[in-house]
Amino acid sequence: MKQEKKITIAIDGYSSTGKSTMAKALARAIGYAYIDTGAMYRAVTLYCLDNGLFDGDRVDEAELERRLNDIHITFKPNDEGRSETWLNGTNVESEIRSMRVSDKVSIIAAIGSVRRDMVRQQQAMGRDKGIVMDGRDIGTVVFPDAELKVFVTADPMVRAQRRYDELRAKGDTTTTLDEVLHNVTERDRIDTTRAESPLRQADDAVVLDNSNMTIPEQNAFLRGAFLATLAH
Ligand code: DC
Repeated sequence: MKQEKKITIAIDGYSSTGKSTMAKALARAIGYAYIDTGAMYRAVTLYCLDNGLFDGDRVDEAELERRLNDIHITFKPNDEGRSETWLNGTNVESEIRSMRVSDKVSIIAAIGSVRRDMVRQQQAMGRDKGIVMDGRDIGTVVFPDAELKVFVTADPMVRAQRRYDELRAKGDTTTTLDEVLHNVTERDRIDTTRAESPLRQADDAVVLDNSNMTIPEQNAFLRGAFLATLAH
């Protein structure tokens, strides 16, 4: 598609709403870069788990802050051109989606020093616009001036079922639907009530509730919102 100007697209919303699926599809269709900011918080969480910074649900925040400069997160395309997350030279794309990481990531995402470091990196990645970024605080904190902001929501049970199907497809045969539902609602609670950049809808965001939408339908919605923004 011929485009005269590049914009910034911020996609925020609850966990497991399929934000990243639609953000990726839009980025591919319009030739923009795609950044999954949840993957960055997940990679920091994996680092903490693998380096003994967790004691149960408590994390050694002072030690983590000291080590932030040693945590290098990058995105590289795989053989099929899909972006994957790397942590200090290791491909962690699959590992960061495990329940082990999902269970602890909200704790890491609530830490101010971690958020400041991630936001700084995200702002640098989007400096030249032409980017689709998904997360929780993209339209409110990272790019408050984004030309298009979408806030995605869906019924918690629908989200849990989607996440459960994904885990099964990846070979996880032990996690139950109940456990996934608990993880989804617990993450909603922590994400919306934390002191540092809680998840909230930006005043100028377009709301998308995709509980009863198919993937092609939500892709079409997003594409329409993008074209409408460009025409503005
Ligand atoms: O989108 P996700 O489920 O992969 O996000 C993982 C966690 O990181 C989730 O608990 C919310 C948090 N997160 C955040 O606080 N800010 C972001 N910009 C992205 C994710």
